[in-house]
Amino acid sequence: MVIKPPEKLQDRLGRPLHDLRLSVIDRCNFRCPYCMPAELYPDGYPFFSREKLLQFDEIERLVKLFAQLGASKLRLTGGEPLLRKDLADLIARLATIDGVEDIAMSTNAILLPRHAQALYQAGLRRVTVSLDSLDPKEFLQLSGNRGSLAQVLDGIAAAQSAGFEKIKINAVIKRGMNDQSVLKLVEHFRNSGCTLRFIEFMDVGTLNAWQQEQVVSSAEILAQINKRWPVEPVSADYRGEVAQRYRFTDGAGEIGFISSVSKPFCRDCTRARLSADGKLYTCLFAQDGMDLKTPLRAGADDDELLEMLTSRWRARTDRYSELRAAGQLDETYNDDKVEMYQVGG
Ligand code: GTP
Ligand code: 5AD
Ligand code: SF4
Ligand code: SF4
Repeated sequence: MVIKPPEKLQDRLGRPLHDLRLSVIDRCNFRCPYCMPAELYPDGYPFFSREKLLQFDEIERLVKLFAQLGASKLRLTGGEPLLRKDLADLIARLATIDGVEDIAMSTNAILLPRHAQALYQAGLRRVTVSLDSLDPKEFLQLSGNRGSLAQVLDGIAAAQSAGFEKIKINAVIKRGMNDQSVLKLVEHFRNSGCTLRFIEFMDVGTLNAWQQEQVVSSAEILAQINKRWPVEPVSADYRGEVAQRYRFTDGAGEIGFISSVSKPFCRDCTRARLSADGKLYTCLFAQDGMDLKTPLRAGADDDELLEMLTSRWRARTDRYSELRAAGQLDETYNDDKVEMYQVGG
């Protein structure tokens, strides 16, 4: 029997499934202290073994099913997605799936000089680069002493040469860490064709000892920037866009703010996350994921898998950031959250 995909799949809060964030590997060549601290993740740390990772056939099959349920935007994440061997081959396969309209990737850019061209040829058109500082020393601290600022800038340049346009640069600002770097970042990326976005430091995972005082709000950063280079708001590209956009009034381009702490956007959250070991997470702050790999490998047919995805999405009530903002979180919740590098942000 073929189950017809639901006409209008919505979760318990009326949110459709639009985006799938696909973590292709949990490894990273950086050790950002707020994500994968070097003391806890030494070389040789037992990340997912090869057998645990979903294979390309398995990813392709799941993405086809997600696409049938409405997921038209895909984002490849990690860890660092470019550490996954033959990633361009996977992208080429995903790009042909019916219903997939957009494929993007989040990367630290270190490996872009080697791969940008093949990725572009495979059909990838959107790249977002994580970069928190333009001070070479501060950068080294923030990458856990792996990779240099110059390499990241080379990676961005390589992506531009390969044909990628409107590259986004994501900077997490944390008080006492890199809050002095805001204007330098803005100055560098004005007029560059790249869009710089500031992300509020979040309490993702269990490792970053997050405190509210460490959050530099978007409002604070915006005020600082506006004083130096006046900006005006730009309306959202699509419903549920995570970043609030602004443009420089002098025509130097756009910037964005991702205010998940000061202005949570759960109400419009249409994102599902699939970890590299095949678990479905319905929130960045989830404690548990639904294991899809086991049924997949045990021979479940498409209808059975679709039924699992559908019922999971229908039951979804996640709105962690809103609950945090309202002071309604249970204290013990925080001990078990999935780590950032397992769901790719
Ligand atoms: P575009 O498709 O380019 O608009 O991408 P995006 O802005 O949705 O995705 P991106 O991965 O660049 O998001 C930037 C950062 O915002 C992520 O790394 C997360 O830190 C944060 N973020 C994205 N989605 C969510 C979400 O659903 N909840 C929360 N709390 N933060 C999110
Ligand atoms: N808060 C906000 N953003 C974070 N990222 C990693 N950890 C956090 C956090 N605690 C960002 C990375 C990267 C993206 C995947 O998520 O810097 O840009
Ligand atoms: Fe790697 Fe990104 Fe985590 Fe940094 S934030 S350690 S680049 S996965
Ligand atoms: Fe979505 Fe969870 Fe982020 Fe809210 S906290 S926007 S529900 S991922």
